[in-house]
Amino acid sequence: MMLFKVVFVAFTACMASAQESKSYRTVCYIQGWTHWREDPVKFEPEDVDTSLCTHVVWSSAELDETGTNVTVHDNGDEQLYQRLTALKQDQPELKVMLEIGGWGMGSEEFTKLVSSPSNMQTFAANIIQYLRQLNFDGLVLDWENPVTRPPSVPEDKHRFTQLLQTLMEAFEKEATENSKPRLLLASTLKPSTWQISQSYELPDIANYVDWLDLTAFDLHGTWEGGVEHHSPLYSVTFDDKDSIHYMIQRIINMSVPRDKLDLGIPLYGVTFNLSDPTNYDTGAPIVGSGAAGELSHQSGRLAWFEICKLISNDSFTSGRLSDTKAPFVVDGSRYTGYDDTQSIQEKVDYVMENQLGGVSIFTIDMDDFNGLCGGERNPLLHTVQRQFSGLVG
Ligand SMILES: *[C@@H]1O[C@H](CO)[C@@H](O)[C@H](O)[C@H]1NC(C)=O
Ligand SMILES: *[C@@H]1O[C@H](CO)[C@@H](O)[C@H](O)[C@H]1NC(C)=O
Ligand SMILES: *[C@@H]1O[C@H](CO)[C@@H](O)[C@H](O)[C@H]1NC(C)=O
Ligand SMILES: *[C@@H]1O[C@H](CO)[C@@H](O)[C@H](O)[C@H]1NC(C)=O
Repeated sequence: MMLFKVVFVAFTACMASAQESKSYRTVCYIQGWTHWREDPVKFEPEDVDTSLCTHVVWSSAELDETGTNVTVHDNGDEQLYQRLTALKQDQPELKVMLEIGGWGMGSEEFTKLVSSPSNMQTFAANIIQYLRQLNFDGLVLDWENPVTRPPSVPEDKHRFTQLLQTLMEAFEKEATENSKPRLLLASTLKPSTWQISQSYELPDIANYVDWLDLTAFDLHGTWEGGVEHHSPLYSVTFDDKDSIHYMIQRIINMSVPRDKLDLGIPLYGVTFNLSDPTNYDTGAPIVGSGAAGELSHQSGRLAWFEICKLISNDSFTSGRLSDTKAPFVVDGSRYTGYDDTQSIQEKVDYVMENQLGGVSIFTIDMDDFNGLCGGERNPLLHTVQRQFSGLVG
């Protein structure tokens, strides 16, 4: 009996240290346009704290009208790409990637791209040349979303798999020919049950990417007609399928390798304009989005650097939903459901407990990168790093 115990202890100690030494991805997305914000929230490539990210993704470039080549979103973006990739001089392990797509770009050019094998081959050749020329380490595709966003067609579900396969094979061939590390390939994936069933062939697409960034936010919004937190890890209603936990377990059950899944964590809150400021229960009636933030100027969203001011103000009501750590704050008729250090710790723990590949941060320009909240810079990104390295206190 005694011997058994000793062996068991040694075994679990070994398991624990294997777990501690596992490295997780922290994929830091940047919204390129935040370069156009005004001080003190103008975000420059040099504002990235490279010690807190394993990968940095510029969001985003676009496809040109032929759907077979890349183009910038704004003139001058290529100068910013160069400043971003220059960050690798101080942090050689850092990988800097270019995203193509986004909600604003829509589906039309992606549908053209996947409409023929030759278009996909042409794009692969063009994007390899472009990424190498600008010193990027890889590509992230953000097609929002195959099949469900017109003019995308049902055939695009399978063609999207073919696109990833074409790109991965071309990246491998180029790396061998030029004796260079292969370019990385990742894709965003909207994890809701309906979106998965409509848009993606799982687990097939996982074979052709290095990882998938699960965009586990904006899961609820004004279109549902009532207040609901947009990114709850666990369910806050009677419908279990609302939670990120359910969505991830479902994807894992489809035989997608766990270490190819990164949990997307928003550094922003989604706002609602309450019909009655005293009724802010889940499902409470609303009149559209809440007022835009004074610094971020985005309808329906507040950045963490704005939320921190609200929650430290005693005149406003804040709390957490039951069954999950998801926090909210109500200022006047504006309800904001957001993530903070506690809910982010809960999510990072979830990633470790479920042996996922890491997290993707949407987006680091919404953290308090300038210290406006009165504490350390990048408090949310620091929370992620401390939680991964077990230094929580
Ligand atoms: C693709 O686009 C890039 C960037 O705009 C450009 O430099 C390149 O010449 C284009 N390639 C082709 C084949 O048109
Ligand atoms: C995933 O599989 C497990 C084990 O078979 C099962 O208990 C669970 O209900 C499944 N979850 C989902 C969301 O499909
Ligand atoms: C919120 O709704 C009220 C009506 O209930 C309206 O007067 C107000 O302008 C709305 N605020 C915003 C920011 O839309
Ligand atoms: C708290 O909010 C109120 C109402 O908007 C505002 O007048 C006050 O200045 C805020 N207090 C602080 C410390 O920001």
